[in-house]
Amino acid sequence: KKIVLAYSGGLDTSIIIPWLKEQYPGCEVVAVCTDVGQKEDWEALKQKAIASGASKIYVLDVKEELVRDYIFPMLRAGAIYEGKYLLGTSIARPLQAKKQVEIALKEGADAVAHGCTGKGNDQVRFELTYKALAPHLEIIAPWRMWDIRSREQAIEYAQKHGIPLGNISKKNIYSRDWNIWHISHEGGILEDLWNRPEEDMFMLTRSPKEAPDQEEEITVEFEQGIPVALDGERLGPVELLTRLNELGGKHGIGRADVVETRVVGMKSRGVYETPGGTILFTALRELEMITLDAETLSLKRQLAARYAELVYQGKWFTLQREALDAFMKSVARFLTGKIRLALYKGNIIVCGRSSEYSLYLQDLASFGESSYDHRDATGFIKLYGLPVGVSAMVQKKLEAE
Ligand code: ARG
Ligand code: SIN
Repeated sequence: KKIVLAYSGGLDTSIIIPWLKEQYPGCEVVAVCTDVGQKEDWEALKQKAIASGASKIYVLDVKEELVRDYIFPMLRAGAIYEGKYLLGTSIARPLQAKKQVEIALKEGADAVAHGCTGKGNDQVRFELTYKALAPHLEIIAPWRMWDIRSREQAIEYAQKHGIPLGNISKKNIYSRDWNIWHISHEGGILEDLWNRPEEDMFMLTRSPKEAPDQEEEITVEFEQGIPVALDGERLGPVELLTRLNELGGKHGIGRADVVETRVVGMKSRGVYETPGGTILFTALRELEMITLDAETLSLKRQLAARYAELVYQGKWFTLQREALDAFMKSVARFLTGKIRLALYKGNIIVCGRSSEYSLYLQDLASFGESSYDHRDATGFIKLYGLPVGVSAMVQKKLEAE
């Protein structure tokens, strides 16, 4: 039996290797790790996988694909889950699972395994992707099978099986997930909703209190809803997002403290740092407000909420998501232009907007002399207000009786 494991180098996925070999005697475990922009000692990670008993470890750099084909389309759609969460973990899972499936097929494996718990969203995202891309593969989810219930027990299991613990300690209380779009923090003191996160938990952003007293002005440029340049310099997707992350982090931008509804139903607390993403969302929203007519804008916003739910629930490889992307792509034909922003102590201040597709005509909106004829409004309001007048007449009369 050959099993391909989604490997992170952390405690959980490390002990899964000896556990699988115990559970399925004679099996071979191939580890797959994706570089999605987290900071990692890749050589140490490779050694650790082998030392834990994997026969092979693949490390795949998927940053470019993640930003270009997953994050930017999601940004173009304006997808934000429950109005607050920028979907940093959710958006990476389908790609990570897809890469894992590709290796499983190439290796002729029988099964795929992951280290997600039975309580969370990530198991759903991994497994819906496996099912969409290779429904014949067996799925092994050790967290739903074994008796290990806590971090302490996991450490004990690791020690018993000679797994190198490295800098893993019982005190590493947060559950974190890191990629080029965001880092998430869950668990520990955050489980009490009354607790404010401690300052030293944050990893990508400064506290607004510590941010520079000087504001910094930037210009972000979009083509068809996709960011392409910063301060007039054209940049590839990874470079552009990396620079915005640095700028946002420096100015204390992109922190979100969220209580969200998981796919399995429970409310759960997460604190997220999405510095570059927050800047991009703000800029794009501004651009669509000047380029889209009211009804298209309203429809896009409604579908964006649905799009966010799909991404959160792991339904990336579905007809619905593809069809929604077709809508977003069509609308985004006019999302081309520049937005000027000032970054200042956790704030993103909109300074300027410009687009060749702008529907804002200064002549029309102006309070001064213009081609607009005020007299036209008389007839317009007569008809527009007709039903209001009719119901007032009829219903007031009936109520008086
Ligand atoms: N709650 C967030 C989400 O569902 C973050 C999950 C983080 N996952 C993790 N394995 N630490 O997208
Ligand atoms: C997990 O439970 O494996 C991580 C959190 C989540 O998936 O929501």
